[in-house]
This record gives sequence, C-alpha cells and structure tokens, in this order.
Amino acid sequence: MQQTELFEQLDYRLNKQYERIIDDLLIKNYSIIDNFFKAEEIQQLRNNLITKFQEDQFKKSAIGNKTNELVAKTIRGDFILWMNEAEAGETEKIFFNKINNLIEYLNRTCFMGILHKEFHYAVYPKGTFYKRHLDTFQNDSRRKLSVVSYLNDKSWLKTNGGELVIYKEDGSEEVIYPLPGRVVIFESQILEHEVKEVKNSERLSITGWLKTR
Ligand code: OGA
Ligand code: MN
Repeated sequence: MQQTELFEQLDYRLNKQYERIIDDLLIKNYSIIDNFFKAEEIQQLRNNLITKFQEDQFKKSAIGNKTNELVAKTIRGDFILWMNEAEAGETEKIFFNKINNLIEYLNRTCFMGILHKEFHYAVYPKGTFYKRHLDTFQNDSRRKLSVVSYLNDKSWLKTNGGELVIYKEDGSEEVIYPLPGRVVIFESQILEHEVKEVKNSERLSITGWLKTR
C-alpha cells in the first residue's frame, strides 16, 4: 500500500474534528464547533431558509399539545419548519451529508447507536426567546444529542442577543453566540439551556436531534 493511501485510510478512521467533539461530549456534555460548515454552505442554507420563510412554510413553534398558545408564547417565540431528508434539494443534501458523516463516525467509533434524526429550520424574530428547558421535555426519551447550526449573516453582532446559554452541571453557564458556521452539540437528556431574547435582526438556525432506538 502506498503511504498516502495508508494516511488516507487512517484519516478516515480518525477524524480530528469528530474526535474533539467526542472528547468534549465525554468531558463536559457539549461541544462548540466553529467552521463545521463553510461560509458558502451557510450562505446557501441561509438563502434556502429565507425562501421557505417568505413562502410562508413556517409554523409557530409549540411546546406540546396540552399547552395553550398564550403560555407557549411566554416560553418560546420561534417559527419552525421541519426538514425532509427524502425531499432534500442540493443545499439540504450538503447539510445532511455532513450530519450523516458525523452519525456514521459516532456509531462506528463510540457505538452511540444513533438510528434516527430530525431537524427543523428555526427563525427567531426580534423580541423572541426560548426559556430555559431540557430538550426531552416533549416526552421524547430517544433524543440523545441536540445539534444546532447557526445560519446568521456574517455581519451578526454580539449585541443582537439570541445567545444560547448552556447551564452546566457545576452550576456555571456557557454563553454561546449564534455565529454563522458554528455548530453546537450537546447531550439532550442532561443539559438545560436557553435562547436569550433576540434584540435585533432575525436569528436563523437549523436545530435537530440525533436519536437512539
Ligand atoms: C431548541 C433550542 C437552541 C438554539 O430549539 O430546542 O434549544 O441555540 N435551540 O437555537
Ligand atoms: Mn432546546
């Protein structure tokens, strides 16, 4: 075997970015990955989201069926659109390819047993937020990892608000700005988190869950 071939195979087995994600998850139950997506991929996904939003395909988010809308509004104010991988266009295929590569790696190297996934686009208009919560409150114990990808413009300012705050087990907080290209992965069953009020400009993202049986 040629040396380059060998390295390629080793590289396939040991992806540095994925290894760091795994280490982070083991140590602190979350991982922040900058440049998970390239700038042009973000631009395309962002355009996709904006088109679908303008076509009125989004729905006001809910927090379970028994809660009335007024209560829901005081908990979360985002609009969402579920993605369908089977009908993914070119842009969404890029997104799902990257997610599927990650799932394949997690299952192969950590036996994580991810069998299902679900993703939705999300738009947080100015003035909206998502109060502190756990992603399994919707009675879905199969949710293992939450994966949030930010699609904001590269001119996104910290003063726009909309920070993701992760409440760590030691009582401290991690404040994460929704910067384009950034992906945050965390243990759905373990970490409570919150989206702070969006002060300016809409906050755009794709949120999803990797699920076990
Ligand atoms: C969620 C959520 C975090 C974020 O949709 O459940 O917590 O940063 N999103 O958008
Ligand atoms: Mn959440």
